[in-house]
Amino acid sequence: MALVSLRTLLDAAQQGKYAVGAFNCNNMEIVQAIVAAAEETRSPVILQASQGAIKYAGLEYIVGMVKTAAQKATVPICLHLDHGTDFNTVVACIRAGFTSVMFDGSQYEKEENINRTREVVKIAHAVGVSVEGEIGKIGGVEDDIAVDERDAMLTPVPDAIEFYEATGVDALAMSFGTAHGPYKLPPKLALDRIAAVHEQTGAYLVMHGGSGVPAEDVKKGIELGIRKINIDTELRQAFLGEVRRQLAEKPDEIDPRKIFAPARDVLKEHIKAKMALFGSVGKA
Ligand code: G3H
Ligand code: 13P
Ligand code: ZN
Ligand code: NA
Repeated sequence: MALVSLRTLLDAAQQGKYAVGAFNCNNMEIVQAIVAAAEETRSPVILQASQGAIKYAGLEYIVGMVKTAAQKATVPICLHLDHGTDFNTVVACIRAGFTSVMFDGSQYEKEENINRTREVVKIAHAVGVSVEGEIGKIGGVEDDIAVDERDAMLTPVPDAIEFYEATGVDALAMSFGTAHGPYKLPPKLALDRIAAVHEQTGAYLVMHGGSGVPAEDVKKGIELGIRKINIDTELRQAFLGEVRRQLAEKPDEIDPRKIFAPARDVLKEHIKAKMALFGSVGKA
């Protein structure tokens, strides 16, 4: 199948009241694990590459791997740029064949973020590519931030609505208590903000920092309008956890395939469990 846009996947998710998993990919084994999990569970899926992933693997390799996987696949796949902060990278991804881009202008003041995001929406939509925008800062667990400071960073509902309506993005990331990386304590989520924005605008909300969010919160979030859930850290942990186990079990192994094949299988099973939690199983 040809790659599909984020808008196509999220319109269907809205109809069916589920969320589509957006899994970060950095190399061939991760791409294969994500696509195999989607095929085995009949799930629509988003493969996303960060600017760091593009720097690591190369833009042509990312597009080549994901397009090759999609050609053989029978489930719909979207290729999405994760946290594009650099306009030139966003344009390069659109030109290289991405079907969705995130423009992350969260480092700018609201007006500047709106203006820059609108510019991206204009060029992306002209060629059928979807756009995710971010209003408010979604930090990392590792950022040394106290709980009340984290609360102060939550996106005010009126800002989210203004940003959504002014930019015309297809998916909206806002700060509601999640963070990138492994949580030290379970996060306290302001799901009421998700509900308010979704109810008032119909926007498809994105959960960043999805790794480590308790299953109950994930389910509630989906009920309230979350339609895309980003998972990276858990993939790293699952894959490298098994690599470490294999290396300890076979200290004399010199064939990387003997280590990576079982790690790829463990990763695939982990992703399948996420797809079940998100409700996307059987939706393709
Ligand atoms: O949100 C960040 C993603 O987990 C990607 O991380 O920039 O290290 O590739 P990265
Ligand atoms: P986690 O690493 O916490 O899963 O967050 C991933 C993410 O939000 C990518 O944009
Ligand atoms: Zn993120
Ligand atoms: Na997280």
